[in-house]
Amino acid sequence: MTMGNNLLKGKRGIIFGALDEHSIAWKTAEKAHEEGAKFVLTNAPIALRMGALNKLAEETGSTIIPADATDNAELEKLIAEAVEILGGPLDFILHSIGMSPNVRKGKPYTDLNYDWFHKTLDVSAMSLHRVLQTAYKLDAMAEWGSVISLSFVAAQRAFPGYNDMADAKSLMESITRNFGYQYGNAKKVRVNTISQSPTLTTAGKGVGGFDQFINFAEDISPLGNASAEQCADYTVMMFSDYTRMVTMQNLFHDGGFSFTGISEKVMKKYGM
Ligand SMILES: NC(=O)c1ccc[n+]([C@@H]2O[C@H](COP(=O)([O-])OP(=O)(O)OC[C@H]3O[C@@H](n4cnc5c(N)ncnc54)[C@H](O)[C@@H]3O)[C@@H](O)[C@H]2O)c1
Repeated sequence: MTMGNNLLKGKRGIIFGALDEHSIAWKTAEKAHEEGAKFVLTNAPIALRMGALNKLAEETGSTIIPADATDNAELEKLIAEAVEILGGPLDFILHSIGMSPNVRKGKPYTDLNYDWFHKTLDVSAMSLHRVLQTAYKLDAMAEWGSVISLSFVAAQRAFPGYNDMADAKSLMESITRNFGYQYGNAKKVRVNTISQSPTLTTAGKGVGGFDQFINFAEDISPLGNASAEQCADYTVMMFSDYTRMVTMQNLFHDGGFSFTGISEKVMKKYGM
């Protein structure tokens, strides 16, 4: 492990969504710890059953508080307890949560199950609003606090395999703008999304055609795909005091993928 630069020294936070060591949230927790932050780890009760998170909690000296991000009462308890355990208001929150039953069960976009579509939007997008609203009502964030959630470029452009998660990401980016406006005005809290490259995690691998797509994205992007560790680096910078005036943005962290039309590597493969 490399030495940190104390970028988050004295900062307190909550990290949602570390499932196993591949999770973007897991890497971010390690990095935030390295940079001097104190935080509470949380995930849905069902995701905690395997006990993998205990290892990360030990490694980073963190407390685990279970909470389903679609449950207001559990979020209220989590945020109130986190402030108490950490000894003050929160400087950062990482929302790293996504799930679509339609993707999981292979339902195509033209034949969605609407109960599942609701679930996709609730877990993957509305949960961000719930987290923000709960923190807002409890006045749990410190001034200049920073909230990050993770998005994907399917919020702007069509990626058929991404299914109803594309709509969830669009909604999440919209909530980021609208709550970012409110929270900025009220308390100088900034709210942003990081739009990350395809990454080998449990959620990533669930998307149709992922194995081929990740190679395609690597071949298109001038810098190649951004790894989970690199995403953690960027997130830590967004939690730091060096990015205080950035809010309501969707920040592409994808090696240039989103702004590249075609690459020479791909042209060669097609004999162009
Ligand atoms: N992996 C990729 O290719 C990729 C690319 C861009 C964005 N993202 C986004 O990054 C975020 C993190 O995903 P990941 O790739 O690290 O995968 P992951 O599977 O490790 O993380 C997803 C997390 O969401 C949690 N979760 C699901 N339902 C929940 C609920 N009801 N309450 C609380 N937590 C719940 C899971 O337990 C899990 O920890 C997601 O928002 C995902 O859409 C991933």
